[in-house]
Amino acid sequence: MEKREELYRGKAKSVFATDDPEHLVMLFRDDTSAFDGKKREQLERKGSVNNKFNAFVMEKLAVAGIPTHFVRLLDDRETLVKRLTMLPLECVVRNLAAGSLCRRYGIDEGRVLSPPTFEFFLKSDALGDPMVNEYHIHSLGWAEAWQVARMKELTFRINDILTPLFLAGGMVLVDYKLEFGLMNGALMLGDEVTPDGCRVWDRDTLEKLDKDRFRQDLGRVVESYELIGQRLGLRFD
Ligand code: TMP
Ligand code: ASP
Repeated sequence: MEKREELYRGKAKSVFATDDPEHLVMLFRDDTSAFDGKKREQLERKGSVNNKFNAFVMEKLAVAGIPTHFVRLLDDRETLVKRLTMLPLECVVRNLAAGSLCRRYGIDEGRVLSPPTFEFFLKSDALGDPMVNEYHIHSLGWAEAWQVARMKELTFRINDILTPLFLAGGMVLVDYKLEFGLMNGALMLGDEVTPDGCRVWDRDTLEKLDKDRFRQDLGRVVESYELIGQRLGLRFD
C-alpha cells in the first residue's frame, strides 16, 4: 500500500489517497480545534493518542457487529480506512445534558436525558453546523429515508455498546458525535471515536475528561485522553 496525495485536510485529521482506489489513509494530527475552528492549538502527542484510542474503539464496535470504515492501524498516527462517500450530517446522541443542548434550552448541565436524545446537524463550518430535522434532510436531499433510519439505528446501537464500556471504567459517556458514509450501497460509520468528539465525565467526581478540557482551558488535555483510554483497558505503549 502506497500513500499518495492529500485529498482533504480537516481541522484535526488529514485524508490521503492510496494506490488502491477503495482505501484511504487517515492521519491524526496534533491540531486541536473548537468552536468551529475559532480556538486552535497544537497539543503534543494528541494525534498518536487519538489514533490508538480510535483503533481500540473501532475494534470493539466491529466485534459487536457495527459496520465501520476502519481497516487497520498503519503506524503511530495513521490508520487505513475504506473510502466512503460521506453524508453531510453529524449524528449526536446525548445521555446527559451538556454543551449546546443546555445553551439552547436553558437547562442545567448533567440532567439525565431519559430516554437518550438524538440530534442531526448539518456539517458546515461556514454555517456553524446548524441543527436540522428529518424534514430538512429529506426536502433538501442530504440523505434518503433509509439512510436517516440507519444512521439513527447505528448511532443508538453504538450507545448501547459504549455506555457500559465507559461505566466499567468508572466513566459516564455524556454525548458524542458520529458521521456516516456509503460504500457500494452500504452505510457505515466513517468517523473517529476519540475524546475529541465526545464528552466523558468521571462517574463519581463528574470531572470532565474530554475535549471540554481544551474548550474550557482546564489543562492536561492529552493526559486526560490517555487516562480515558487506560480506564477502558487500552495500553498506549
Ligand atoms: P454540542 O453540545 O456542541 O452540540 O456537541 C455535542 C457532542 O458532539 C459533543 O461531544 C461534541 C460533539 N461534536 C463534535 O465533535 N463536533 C461537532 O462539530 C459537533 C456539532 C459536536
Ligand atoms: N470540532 C468542532 C470545531 O472545531 C466543534 C467543537 O468541538 O467545538 O470547531
